[in-house]
Amino acid sequence: MKVYYCSSEAYPFSKSGGLADVAAALPKTLQNHGNQLKVFIPMYQQNVNDLDALEKLGETTIIIEQKTYKATYYHAVFEELTYILIYNKQLFNRKRFYGYDDDPLRFLFFNHAILSYIDKFSDFPEILHINDWQTSLIPFLIDVDYIKKDEAFKHIKTLLTIHNLEKQGSFPLENEKLLSHKNFTYIHLDKLNFLKTGIMRAHAINTVSESYRQEILTRFYGFNLQGPLKSRQYQLFGILNGFDETLYTPEKSQFLVQNYNENTFEIGKKYNKKALLKQLNLEYDVDKPMIAFINRFARQKGIDLMMQIMDEYLEKNQCYLIIMGQGEPLYASYFEQLSKKYPKLVYYKNSYQMTLSHQVYAASDLFLLPSLFEPCGLNQMIAMKFGSLPIVRETGGLKDTVTPYNKFTGIGVGFSFKNNDEDELKDAIDQAFALYHHEKKIFNDLIHQAMHVHHSMDKMANQYESLYLKLIENKI
Ligand code: GLC
Repeated sequence: MKVYYCSSEAYPFSKSGGLADVAAALPKTLQNHGNQLKVFIPMYQQNVNDLDALEKLGETTIIIEQKTYKATYYHAVFEELTYILIYNKQLFNRKRFYGYDDDPLRFLFFNHAILSYIDKFSDFPEILHINDWQTSLIPFLIDVDYIKKDEAFKHIKTLLTIHNLEKQGSFPLENEKLLSHKNFTYIHLDKLNFLKTGIMRAHAINTVSESYRQEILTRFYGFNLQGPLKSRQYQLFGILNGFDETLYTPEKSQFLVQNYNENTFEIGKKYNKKALLKQLNLEYDVDKPMIAFINRFARQKGIDLMMQIMDEYLEKNQCYLIIMGQGEPLYASYFEQLSKKYPKLVYYKNSYQMTLSHQVYAASDLFLLPSLFEPCGLNQMIAMKFGSLPIVRETGGLKDTVTPYNKFTGIGVGFSFKNNDEDELKDAIDQAFALYHHEKKIFNDLIHQAMHVHHSMDKMANQYESLYLKLIENKI
């Protein structure tokens, strides 16, 4: 199958969240399965230095509101996968990826530029796989603009993947002047809503776990889009993300002082823990449980619950806490303060570093992710692979990937709680600590089971392939 994958970010070119990882790993795997792939991403300021190293394919002009914008196409190959980077100096040579007043113009341009590429080079895919709001206008633009230019656009099938419903690309309605055709599809609650447009116009839609698929049809998780989503529920699917298991494995990671597997983790994890305690200049007590939190600092991640209970554990000197990530200043300053207050127990790194992250996954005993909502979540899966048991709230992908410890059967790969409630989180942590200290055998059994779980890219890619096929055969 010929699939063009459109994303606002892809690792290693640009990454602000989990989408970037999926946008790198899924197309690569699909290509390995014998499909023809190209990945379309914007070229941001951070890539501009590489300009000379990239091959320029050509350029075209996009007209928006009677103004012309030049789109330049660059070709890059990373790990044998073709990337088309789309550049316009005025719109994309900026520090951040999103969050500017002219975002509607910037991403409308990006959507047009992808379709113009197809038109210009007469290079038609069977599937256009779009992701999140930043590429959600594509099906609409095909319908109103591009079919007129070339009939072949009629045969392209579009699949929209929703990685996070909270971010919708919802802008003041005055921005509709940017669009050449007035239409109610793009209007939602008196705003121009990119994601809603994609939901209404894509041939099929999916999100990144089955539980999240069900949740987003409800009011609490639907962020006001539950109505449009319900109207498309028969074309709405849930496909769980996988991750690159060859990249994230304690058996082969080059960043660990000692590699280990599911049979040698007891010694392996201990060595890594000792090394990390020294490296980070923390108190040296291997028997104290170590909790890791590696994630974006956003309300979604349940940090508000952590803020209510972590102090107590640290005051009583009951655990280590290692935090790594970036995001909202409110949370960043909370973590900063914690690390100042408990310098021997808390380590805080205000950025994401691959090397250190492997070391923390390997050294930690528990991995915290008490999300308010979580479409899929990748880090809890990576944590399991490294034998760090996740403590999660039962929502979305967390519910689908973390089977909580069952004291009657002994089955489980982590700990969980139901409601967005700090006492419930505390109970889950207490349960984990109790096993850690007093039931080592059970705790180790859980690690063994967690390390055994596979969320491979192949499994994930197979499901996308069968969805593409259904689309191509008009079975959806
Ligand atoms: C978003 C979601 C996260 C998901 C990722 C990749 O970042 O918040 O749950 O794993 O996208 O699909």
